[in-house]
Amino acid sequence: MSMLLMTLACAPKSTEVPAAAEVPAVTEPAAVLAETEPSSSMQLHMSEHFAKTRVANEAFIHGEVGQAQDALAWLAEHEAPEGLPEGSRSWLAEMKTAATEGSVATHPAETAAAIGRLGAACAGCHAEMRGE
Ligand code: HEC
Repeated sequence: MSMLLMTLACAPKSTEVPAAAEVPAVTEPAAVLAETEPSSSMQLHMSEHFAKTRVANEAFIHGEVGQAQDALAWLAEHEAPEGLPEGSRSWLAEMKTAATEGSVATHPAETAAAIGRLGAACAGCHAEMRGE
């Protein structure tokens, strides 16, 4: 039975865009990160964010806008970790706003722009926390 499935799965379908089933492959780095036993819940939290941000980005690139928006919705709703440094709240708000807007956008270009702003908010907070 599994051979049959394999055969079917491997049959060339040249006219099709990549199947949605191929996209979850990008979550693999998350599993790797999770296995490294982060030393703090903050690191675990950030690893999850990193994974979801990648899913949003890769899904969008594969034309799976709905899947990208699901990942953005997760980021929008996920509770911030305890112990975020002083002065980081505005970056968090910016991150949440970008994720929310991207998750509800009705045009793919708006979702793409939101993914860009999301990345900028991640980087902005990290840079400021390092005193850059
Ligand atoms: C409000 C500030 C803030 C925002 C916004 C933020 N981060 Fe972070 N991030 C931090 C801090 C602080 C650390 C350091 C945590 C530690 O090492 O204790 C960190 C660390 C990380 C790490 C390294 C974790 C590790 O294992 O050392 C990753 C990956 C990461 N963030 C990804 C992201 C992604 C992706 C986003 C955007 C979706 C994001 N972060 C948004 C504050 C933020």
